[in-house]
Amino acid sequence: MLRKLFLWGNILLLIIFVAAIAKDLVGPYLPNHWAWTQMKYRQMQANDETNPDSKKSILARPIEIKQIQANDLGQIDRCTSCHQGMDSIVTPTMQNSFTQNPFKAHSGDFLKNHPPEKFGCVICHGGQGIATTFIGAAHTPKDEAQKAEWKKKYGWVPTEHWDRPMLAPPYIQSSCAKCHGNFESLPGTEVVSRGKNLMAQHGCLGCHQWKGFGGPISVDLAEETANKPLGRIDFSHTGLSDEDMNLLNWIRLHFVKDPWELTPGDPEAKFNTEPIAPSGMQNFTLPSPAYPDKGPELSEDDATALTTYILSARSEKIPYNYYIPGPKEAKFEDMHFSSRKEAGKWVYDRYGCAACHGLNAKGGRRNFNYQGGGMEPVLVKTVSNYTRDELRKKIMYGVPVVNKDNDKGPTPPLYMPPWKDKISPPEMEALMDYLFSIAEKQAEF
Ligand code: HEC
Ligand code: HEC
Ligand code: HEC
Ligand code: HEC
Ligand code: HEC
Repeated sequence: MLRKLFLWGNILLLIIFVAAIAKDLVGPYLPNHWAWTQMKYRQMQANDETNPDSKKSILARPIEIKQIQANDLGQIDRCTSCHQGMDSIVTPTMQNSFTQNPFKAHSGDFLKNHPPEKFGCVICHGGQGIATTFIGAAHTPKDEAQKAEWKKKYGWVPTEHWDRPMLAPPYIQSSCAKCHGNFESLPGTEVVSRGKNLMAQHGCLGCHQWKGFGGPISVDLAEETANKPLGRIDFSHTGLSDEDMNLLNWIRLHFVKDPWELTPGDPEAKFNTEPIAPSGMQNFTLPSPAYPDKGPELSEDDATALTTYILSARSEKIPYNYYIPGPKEAKFEDMHFSSRKEAGKWVYDRYGCAACHGLNAKGGRRNFNYQGGGMEPVLVKTVSNYTRDELRKKIMYGVPVVNKDNDKGPTPPLYMPPWKDKISPPEMEALMDYLFSIAEKQAEF
């Protein structure tokens, strides 16, 4: 009995073993796999009358895994195992007349400016370089239509255990900013440049930091958010399907949904012993009171641009000789303003006062359970109640604890931070000139 079991057990093992070898040998030759793709490309090249190489020599080329070892970047990419039009050995000119991926040559001048043998592909595209299957490489569809098509064609699913799937256009522009400090002056970086400007204009840095600079309310969007592991994101209120639960969508949703939906807290203490306020973040899907007729403060395109810019801070070891420094950051002292008002507006924007007081100090920002109905002071209406000295003190020392609307409710998430160590004296004077100049009622001294 035992002997029989042993025999059958061994036969079963043998079958599994043979099947595994067969799969490794045959798998790559199945349609759309790398060996199949190479054979097809070889055939296409052989049939191409304009190719200077002889048909015979083309067809004699070995079918093998191709890999680019970009040593300086510590990156090994096998993308050219399928993307043969971009393999400098198989396609020395890096040009061909094929129009379909993965056979066609690279669009644009990207490989001319960034030779593939030095840069590989993943440093710009993201994805899993070492993989040799369509799904393993972590291709990202650019829209729902392409996703549906890929599901049918390749059985597409997101790659498991791979936090950095490929970046579809325009998100791929985030990669340019990793190496090009001068990215705003390059062609092909319009979206990431716009994201940088939006972050400066809408007061994100009154609450968040970016590489250490900014306000104290929430996380550093560069150091923390851009590098957040999926396991630390609570997707439960996002409404995303499993296959869409990724960092990109998590970031983007903060601009196209009300953050109170994403992070509802527990204001009535149903699940916790203390009440917790919902997110302190503003709802950017509403129009700004400064521009009530302009639609949402952030559009869908703005959301894409901000997401692209935040993703540019994903940490990557970029060797110094691959980094092109940008222009020095503008300093108040070196700027040429046409008026005191303009100078003060620059300070208001730079330190992110708009985070809590709105664009142009016109308000519309909320603070859960804050006294008098949960809205932040509208500075154009209230600064005239202050003398210059009082105003300076208020901004320098802030209001670390604010009054609640309902005593039993949660602590309001926002308070007025102290700015004395951040805003220089000349900046402060200009800021006050600005605030007084836009006050709806002039101060009476
Ligand atoms: C197993 C073969 C295979 C490998 C390996 C592979 N690709 Fe692809 N790739 C394809 C195929 C096939 C398509 C065309 C998909 C379609 O639209 O039908 C494609 C399409 C693309 C596209 C265009 C997507 C679009 O929006 O149309 C990009 C970009 C791309 N691949 C980049 C890469 C990068 C970067 C790597 C390496 C990390 C890689 N690929 C590895 C087969 C492969
Ligand atoms: C310097 C950055 C950079 C590098 C390096 C790079 N790419 Fe690209 N690639 C891009 C950008 C940006 C686009 C989008 C271009 C566009 O839409 O005009 C793109 C587009 C593509 C496409 C889609 C082309 C199309 O027209 O359908 C494929 C496929 C692709 N790249 C594959 C690769 C492969 C494979 C490598 C490595 C050999 C590589 N890329 C290296 C930046 C790069
Ligand atoms: C790994 C770092 C790296 C990434 C990522 C990268 N570049 Fe570059 N790029 C370089 C280097 C290095 C050079 C060569 C600079 C020089 O001229 O010495 C260069 C050159 C260029 C040039 C030509 C020279 C110039 O300054 O006009 C352009 C244009 C360019 N890159 C655009 C882009 C765009 C657009 C992207 C994103 C799709 C991108 N680069 C991504 C490092 C990078
Ligand atoms: C009034 C303060 C405030 C302003 C202004 C604000 N945020 Fe937030 N933001 C927060 C808080 C607080 C969180 C923490 C998560 C939560 O409770 O929603 C957050 C969360 C985020 C997240 C998710 C972070 C993570 O690590 O999971 C992103 C992304 C984000 N904010 C981006 C922005 C951008 C970009 C802007 C400007 C357009 C902005 N925020 C403006 C307060 C603010
Ligand atoms: C994180 C949110 C936040 C940011 C950023 C912020 N403030 Fe405030 N600010 C508040 C809150 C909350 C109050 C109300 C404090 C209270 O209840 O007394 C306040 C009050 C004020 C007041 C007093 C208004 C009044 O009606 O009494 C002034 C003036 C003021 N802020 C100016 C500024 C300026 C200038 C900046 C930028 C340098 C700034 N604030 C940035 C939250 C903020």
